Amino acid sequence: MRLSDDQLARYHKDGVLVLPGLFSAEEVEVLRRPLARLFAEDVPENFREMVSGEVRTAMGLHLRDETYARVSRHPRLVEPAWQILNDQRLYIQQTKVNAKIAFTGEVWQWHYDFATHHNEDGVPEPLALNLYILLDEVSEFNGPLWFIRGSHTARDVPAALDTGTTSYPLWCVDRASVARLAAEGDILSARGLPGTALIFGDRMVHGSPPNMSPWHRRIYSLILNPVANALTKQTRSEHQHHRDLTPVTPLADDCLLEAVG
Ligand code: SIN
Ligand code: MN
Repeated sequence: MRLSDDQLARYHKDGVLVLPGLFSAEEVEVLRRPLARLFAEDVPENFREMVSGEVRTAMGLHLRDETYARVSRHPRLVEPAWQILNDQRLYIQQTKVNAKIAFTGEVWQWHYDFATHHNEDGVPEPLALNLYILLDEVSEFNGPLWFIRGSHTARDVPAALDTGTTSYPLWCVDRASVARLAAEGDILSARGLPGTALIFGDRMVHGSPPNMSPWHRRIYSLILNPVANALTKQTRSEHQHHRDLTPVTPLADDCLLEAVG
């Protein structure tokens, strides 16, 4: 699948691309099916919310489930990533579902991923791409991702490690920087029906508010990074940044609808 010139232009201008309907309702249903089992597992890959103990994020999914192994090599994700990154060889850096469960899902603070990738994993350049699929409808109520439009072009945005706000250590952006960047751009709230995809890069400043609604907000996230830009430090767990640098190769377009197993 190729992004159109218009889509590419929007990606480069805003820093995030929203692709409604990239995956069908049937495909989303296939992706939802293993989640109850995966979330029930008592493994270090499942990070739990500080207050409720519900799963906040379930990582390493392409190694834990065949459906997630497939979606992590889906041509509708891998091919646009190749297009944006000029056909570089890419490895799977991280796969997860961020749950933000009804009533209890906690905040993701303002951050850009490169601050964590660089400081924790020694990734040299901000080239990694985030490819998301909304697995539930995301509305104004259940904790949509917010992006500061244009923040991907800002350089040297200060970031500091926050280990206290949530259960997940994250390099975050301070309030003054968020205010300055949001005054220049504005905030895009990424809402959409299940099956909508989002693509954004490593410098894009984003976050999401808590979910006090009665509706789950589950989102699948794949991070692909060029092999030539691989991690140089192995301090975090493998499921936070995989060490297998085998270049990803796409499967067939209908790979989610073929019987698993
Ligand atoms: C992230 O930035 O990795 C997570 C954001 C979210 O799930 O809202
Ligand atoms: Mn992030």
